[in-house]
Amino acid sequence: MQKIAVIGTGYVGLVTASCLADMGNRVICVDNDRKKLENLKKGIIPIYEPGLEELIIKNRKLKRIFFVNSIREAAKESDIIFICVGTPTQADGGADLSAVEKVASEIARAMNGYKVIVGKSTVPAETGDRIKRTIEMIKRGKNNFDVVSNPEFLREGSAIHDTMYPDRIVIGVESKRAEEVMRKLYRPIKAPIVVTNIPTAEIIKHACNSFLSTKISFINAIANICELVGADVEKVAEAMGLDKRIGRQFLNAGAGFGGYCFPKDLDAFIHLAEKKGYDFELLKSVRKINNDQKKLLMKKTEDALWIVKNKNVGVLGLSFKPHTDDIRNSVSIEMIKILQHAGAKIKAYDPKAMQKSKAELAKVTFCKSPYDAAKNSDCLMILTEWEEFYKLDLQKVKKLLRQPIIIDGRNIFDPVKMKKLGFVYKCIGRC
Ligand code: UDX
Repeated sequence: MQKIAVIGTGYVGLVTASCLADMGNRVICVDNDRKKLENLKKGIIPIYEPGLEELIIKNRKLKRIFFVNSIREAAKESDIIFICVGTPTQADGGADLSAVEKVASEIARAMNGYKVIVGKSTVPAETGDRIKRTIEMIKRGKNNFDVVSNPEFLREGSAIHDTMYPDRIVIGVESKRAEEVMRKLYRPIKAPIVVTNIPTAEIIKHACNSFLSTKISFINAIANICELVGADVEKVAEAMGLDKRIGRQFLNAGAGFGGYCFPKDLDAFIHLAEKKGYDFELLKSVRKINNDQKKLLMKKTEDALWIVKNKNVGVLGLSFKPHTDDIRNSVSIEMIKILQHAGAKIKAYDPKAMQKSKAELAKVTFCKSPYDAAKNSDCLMILTEWEEFYKLDLQKVKKLLRQPIIIDGRNIFDPVKMKKLGFVYKCIGRC
């Protein structure tokens, strides 16, 4: 049993804390939002993540997870402190690290023995060094601590599984003592551990996320060529994926990537490279291709509808991907705003993300079912690939639509079958 503090109860913080508690540790979670803390104590979770609620309730009962609002209190009572606060994008594309700095200063003031301070938030390279310097400055010489970079690779929607069964654990350390603490902490997890220095660990995180984003933009660029020559991107991805060096994952062409991580991390990495004097042109293209996918969808909509103004568009899917209610940088939310700008009237449905979308979108009719969204719409647009959309009764959808037009930004149906059913079916990279 280790005594752990987790600062920040966002996505990464809550998942990390509940998994560490479930491994038998004593975990104190800290947040400055009192209402959120009160809810968490009652087992009310601010996000939808499969399995998270059960894990928190279970470990509350076992007295292994606690919620407080004082960094000081948590830091004093813990040997390992995870920093999981937000690092939002600033206007210049760089990451805003003010929350990380504030937490580091508070920890420094609370230090009452050897502490291992672990950076888990996605941060630009060199943040570990900054955290160390901030603490040293306040501690003035009594350096009884180590800073560790332990990047997080969890995906929303499968966050608990990704944390308990990761492909690898990356630990950036400067001392053998900190390495031992981290190895002991992760002993219950069966995964290869890569131990390296702090800047390398930070770059590993940047490299992984930007590589995955590159894979998506690459297949989207291929999809665009496929449309021009009459090829099928699904088959291209299938055959490419059978090459073990490439792999099939993250080769789904579509409306592009969104979410809290990829767009933000891409901006931050491009920004960091620029600051260091390297023009990361490849990643700038990745970003451009991703943004252009929305223009492509708009063009397809105009081709199908001719005039978009005053047309009813039914939108299926609001979250940035299935199995989450997260709408941060959701392609769907951005697409709705583009369509509204062109004068379209939107009827939208999502199984989980409607509540959050209501705060973000104006003048949208939120529907009870996908069929409700299709009813009297001039076209139906699919922007998140929730399972229930694959199982739609398409004959019924056709009857409900004013015109049998489906614009599929996630390639969930077979174009040949759709044509046979009498739909004008526009998808990505398949003719
Ligand atoms: C991502 C990384 O996968 C994870 O390792 C990191 O810790 C955080 O960022 P997440 O943002 O939860 O996780 O979502 P992910 O499943 O990676 O999907 C990101 C976006 O890419 C989604 O918008 C998804 O729709 C899109 N995507 C994914 C595609 O467009 N095509 C694909 O083939 C895969």
